[in-house]
Amino acid sequence: MPGKFAANAGSATLCLLVQAARGPATPATTLRSLYKLPLTTARKISTHVAYLAKERAVAIEAVERASQVCQAVFQRLITAETLTKKDKSPVTVADFGAQAVVNHILERYFPDDPVVGEEDSKDLQGEEGRVLREKVTELVNATTGDAMSSDEASCFARSCILRAIDRGQYAGGPRGRHWTLDPIDGTKGFLRGEQFAVCLALIIDGQVHLGVVGCPNLPYDMSKPDGERGVLMVAVKGQGAFQRKLSADSSEQETPVHVSGVQNTSDAVFCESVEAQHSDHSTNANIARLLGITKPSVRMDSQCKYASVARGDAEIYLRLPVSETYVEKIWDHASGNIIIHEAGGRVSDINGKPLDFSIGRTLSANKGVVAASAKIFDEVIGAVQATLAKDN
Ligand SMILES: *[C@@H]1O[C@H](CO)[C@@H](O)[C@H](O)[C@H]1NC(C)=O
Ligand SMILES: *[C@@H]1O[C@H](CO)[C@@H](O)[C@H](O)[C@H]1NC(C)=O
Repeated sequence: MPGKFAANAGSATLCLLVQAARGPATPATTLRSLYKLPLTTARKISTHVAYLAKERAVAIEAVERASQVCQAVFQRLITAETLTKKDKSPVTVADFGAQAVVNHILERYFPDDPVVGEEDSKDLQGEEGRVLREKVTELVNATTGDAMSSDEASCFARSCILRAIDRGQYAGGPRGRHWTLDPIDGTKGFLRGEQFAVCLALIIDGQVHLGVVGCPNLPYDMSKPDGERGVLMVAVKGQGAFQRKLSADSSEQETPVHVSGVQNTSDAVFCESVEAQHSDHSTNANIARLLGITKPSVRMDSQCKYASVARGDAEIYLRLPVSETYVEKIWDHASGNIIIHEAGGRVSDINGKPLDFSIGRTLSANKGVVAASAKIFDEVIGAVQATLAKDN
């Protein structure tokens, strides 16, 4: 029976969904140390607490908060023009604000977990960084002030914001736990009011165990493209992938998502980047031809492409290598990778090799990325290889 119990974690009370049906249980010893429970209590509830239940709940809250920060920046940019061209770009403000919020929430619940993030606080420091720093602080305060204690809020107004941002400097690697964060994935989409994503994943011993992608502008139901927007996708290893509406309501309903069941690649749809430099559109077109694809591609920015493939809006996502030297960053793919796998799809590089998240901040052992529904995956890899061999 699914149920709820409250674990007092830090300053807020966190409600965890207790759902043994969602995969392996959490060992009693882990529960004891995570929730500071007596071992007898931990043993009693152990079989009812899904693996990484607390991490899952915290990651969802962090991504929701960060999405609010991004949306607040976007709304101000459009309405009040408070951010003029002379200032640092609004993306920068949203990027730093979202990273500060996520890192702060992670620090509160998992103080020992390091974070691999894109930004450091250099541009916010000292007199030169004062204007930007104040903007970011004000934004974070305005968006998440209600969730902070007065101590936290006043600390944020001073130095905590820099410290929170700089928690993202971890080097990654093959051992232990670390989170990886992309506060705004798809900055061009964000500026256009189109697709962007807030992405957070937990890597344990070099493998992605939990991923959350927040897509504030993605229609909740693709058959109603002008309907309600805002999707959050979440996946824990072994528990499947789920989507829910992106809102601040922690009791939001979740529904499982699955990749498409298309068996014949001629019925498939490509999902590709808007920006041609991210993935060569003409090579994609050649691959599409080889697969007999006739339907038009869906073009969007960010890891929302993974979300689209995970719930069957499209079947194939390609990110071909743009140059010999370019290496993909782990935060651009970690969440999408686990969500596709848990939705029944497959992800690899262009040579069919699984993405290796154990090396550090980059996917230096891989070239490009291919994600597709399982039934057509091998055929897609074949077409990618045949096309690239011919082009080179
Ligand atoms: C934070 O927000 C509160 C109201 O929500 C306001 O009273 C306070 O001055 C703000 N602090 C900063 C540093 O912006
Ligand atoms: C896939 O669909 C195409 C076009 O409808 C058709 O010509 C082809 O025979 C189909 N392939 C398989 C394996 O069914």
